[in-house]
Amino acid sequence: MPLVNTKEMLQKAYEGGYAVGAFNVNNMEMIQGIVSAAIEERAPLILQVSNGARKYANPIYLKALIESAVKESNLPIALHLDHGDSYELCVSAIDDGFTSVMIDASHHSFEENIRITRKVVEYAHPRNVTVEAELGRLAGIEDDICVSENDSAFTDPSQVQEFVERTGVDSLAIAIGTSHGVYKFKSEPKLRFDILEEVSKRLPYFPIVLHGASSVLPEYVEIIQNNGGAMKGAKGVPEEMLRKAAKMAVCKINIDSDLRMAFTAAIRKHLFENPSHFDPRQYLAPARENVKQLVKHKIKNVLGCNNKI
Ligand code: G3H
Ligand code: 13P
Ligand code: ZN
Repeated sequence: MPLVNTKEMLQKAYEGGYAVGAFNVNNMEMIQGIVSAAIEERAPLILQVSNGARKYANPIYLKALIESAVKESNLPIALHLDHGDSYELCVSAIDDGFTSVMIDASHHSFEENIRITRKVVEYAHPRNVTVEAELGRLAGIEDDICVSENDSAFTDPSQVQEFVERTGVDSLAIAIGTSHGVYKFKSEPKLRFDILEEVSKRLPYFPIVLHGASSVLPEYVEIIQNNGGAMKGAKGVPEEMLRKAAKMAVCKINIDSDLRMAFTAAIRKHLFENPSHFDPRQYLAPARENVKQLVKHKIKNVLGCNNKI
């Protein structure tokens, strides 16, 4: 099955009360772990690539790896650009064969965000590529854009209808209290479900996206801490909150940090327990397996998108 865009998969997710996982990928083992989980769970899948991932792995290598996964899997997979920060980057990803792009102009003014997003939509839609945009700002690091906790701003529901109508976007990322990275909350986790509710009233049947949605699972924090790592105070979004969001208008949930932690936890543990090992396959194989088990868990217990093919 060739790569697909996100239109149909997000619409089905809306109707079915579940969310599709959008997993960030940087290397072969991550891609293999994620895709084999989706195959076993018969789940639709979004593989997303940030600008940082493109710089790290070289777009040509990443694309070839993803194409191999698509060929092997026979699943509906979308290849999505995560946090495209300019029109030019989105165009380059579309020309490279991405089937979906995010234009993140949320750090600009409302009018400028609309202008840039509209321009990307005009390039993408005739090429059958779907576009995600962002309204409101998340705390944390978005690729090369760093937004401090004080600088974050919840999405204003009174702006969403005008934004979607004037830009023609296919999905919208909103800020309701999630943030990127592994230190999401200083005290108790709290999401503004009232904002999500209000946004979905104003945009009926329109797919909403949640960024910064890793749960920072305590078992991985513990393994990392016990094997020489330092992640004190790491805290994520509780899984039951994500499940609730997925039953509402949230149709795409972005996960990166949890994959990184699963991968790193396996490598740290393996090397600590096997100091004589030096063949990367010895520690990358358990890292890949950890990613697979984590993604299976997310698909079944958090996103609810198992058996949706
Ligand atoms: O939202 C950001 C993603 O986690 C990608 O992170 O820019 O380090 O690849 P990255
Ligand atoms: P996490 O850092 O919570 O995994 O968020 C990832 C993300 O939003 C990618 O766009
Ligand atoms: Zn993000």
